[in-house]
Amino acid sequence: MSELLIRGRLLSFKAAPQHIADTDSYLYESDGAVLVADGLIIASGAYDQVKAQASETASEIDHRPHLIMPGFIDCHVHFPQMQVIGSYAANLLEWLNTYTFPEECRFVETAHAQRIATHFFDQFLRQGTTTAVAYCSVHKTSADAFFAESARRGTRMIAGKVMMDRNAPQGLLDTPQSGYDETRELIESWHGRGRNMVAITPRFAITSTPEQMERTQALAYEFPDLHIQTHLSENREEIEFTASLYPDAIDYTDIYARYGLLGKKTLFGHAIHLSDREADALSDSGSVAVHCPTSNLFLGSGLFPLKAIQRRKKPVRVAVATDIGGGTSYSMFKTMDEAYKIQQLLGERLNPLESYYHMTLGNAEALSLADKIGTLEPGTEADLVVLNASATPAMALKMEAVTTLIEELFLMQTLGDDRVVVETYVAGVASKPQ
Ligand code: GUN
Ligand code: ZN
Repeated sequence: MSELLIRGRLLSFKAAPQHIADTDSYLYESDGAVLVADGLIIASGAYDQVKAQASETASEIDHRPHLIMPGFIDCHVHFPQMQVIGSYAANLLEWLNTYTFPEECRFVETAHAQRIATHFFDQFLRQGTTTAVAYCSVHKTSADAFFAESARRGTRMIAGKVMMDRNAPQGLLDTPQSGYDETRELIESWHGRGRNMVAITPRFAITSTPEQMERTQALAYEFPDLHIQTHLSENREEIEFTASLYPDAIDYTDIYARYGLLGKKTLFGHAIHLSDREADALSDSGSVAVHCPTSNLFLGSGLFPLKAIQRRKKPVRVAVATDIGGGTSYSMFKTMDEAYKIQQLLGERLNPLESYYHMTLGNAEALSLADKIGTLEPGTEADLVVLNASATPAMALKMEAVTTLIEELFLMQTLGDDRVVVETYVAGVASKPQ
């Protein structure tokens, strides 16, 4: 068992920060270390104490004065949309029909999917994101390409082939039965292989017939441990169109509820325009609303009430995500910068501790995976990022005026991007692409 001792300043969350001075919510070590072996964290904490636990043969890397954190987690991305990012459209439905659906048709070609998969993993690891929850295209082969690349890189990824059987080009349609069968095949091939996990992935109610929803329900019933991901209440026109397709449902959330799709493992992308009844239904079921700030601003979808929805009498669990390619940045710093600005517009404060909590432990908790990722706790997987808050001339200049950890975090969030990420460790192995 070869050990690696990774030295630097450490920051890892223990709980959701309640306020900006909530020092109990995190662990910070100004001279710390993480000891890793066989892909896991063996020990973390003050350098001297961790060093004392390392074997004599352990190799050591010194990242001081940089900050070591758990790898970032992105809870909603679209693998086939890397060449959709930055497409000029008035709104969600125009964007989907004009750019996104035609682009996703290209993933019928295995070679194309494999090429984009290489780019996907390079790009996410460059950003310090070590876990993503991804929609592949409707084609099973796109998910095969994604999972094969993930297995090669040793990453913990959650993904599924989208199921969609109407309201899209012919080349993007499956059937209720083929969507079911191919998802089952993916589960058999990939779930638990390496660190891969398969998610049941009906795209959204607009592109799934009631028959497909029934088959989705069957999958959710047969595989209750799997994540389910879909979209909910992103855009007003989308909500209206959806209501016309499911006239018996009380509201958008009720459509998914009728097919048994609410629950602790369900991730609802966007969920911006929820009624109180819908927010209660998400809360009661433990479902997660996934906030995608750069996408919501770019597509003009709306302002997600991140703080308010967590403060309700019945709080809704939340995660944060880039939503590539509706989102405009792969960076979790940029994502939280825009999340911050949305809260500003809503008259709310999102403090830097909360932002970094969401990017790490918060998203791990939203995925029910906090025993594996999102912290520097011994026994968890050694996915780490190393951050340099002086990475650019503008940042280095501002750093001269920074005196606290909170200020440093906020600077990286506000001015930072992939240049801040000095190194990304995947299961204890340095993996940031050059
Ligand atoms: N709703 C259904 N599909 C999509 C998608 O690909 N991106 C976004 N932002 N919303 C969606
Ligand atoms: Zn999405």
